[in-house]
Amino acid sequence: MFLIHLTTVIAFFTFFFLVGCSTKPPYAETKLTWEEDIRPIFEASCIECHGGSMIRKNLSLKDPDQIRKNIWKIYKVVIVNQKMPPKNDMGIFLSEADRIKINQWIRGNAPGIGTGKPY
Ligand code: HEC
Repeated sequence: MFLIHLTTVIAFFTFFFLVGCSTKPPYAETKLTWEEDIRPIFEASCIECHGGSMIRKNLSLKDPDQIRKNIWKIYKVVIVNQKMPPKNDMGIFLSEADRIKINQWIRGNAPGIGTGKPY
């Protein structure tokens, strides 16, 4: 009896939770754009090794198509494990503020590049 009651309560809340979710936009809102906010950061902190004098891992971050294709890989190495840019390498540096901007931009569907996938 108690179990049936509990199932009903869970179903009830799940229903309203799903209804609530479906009315929200799939992406976090952001005003950051590729051209104005993110490109200068990539130019300062990434391009030297990915599209400038070197193209490490064959990844050019000058090319919007490659960025779009690799957006979740970029998310992983910049935001999740913070392997990029490599520490103590060529004096290239990414500030915490810029890392946060990249995070918000990707989670906001990377305006100006577009991931086509909900976060
Ligand atoms: C000093 C050179 C250097 C800089 C600067 C740099 N990278 Fe890298 N990047 C590398 C190297 C070297 C690798 C390969 C590392 C490995 O395989 O462990 C790599 C790997 C990657 C990968 C993984 C590619 C794959 O196919 O596995 C991504 C994504 C990436 N970098 C993004 C970035 C981003 C975004 C920035 C700027 C925030 C950046 N990198 C800055 C040298 C650099």
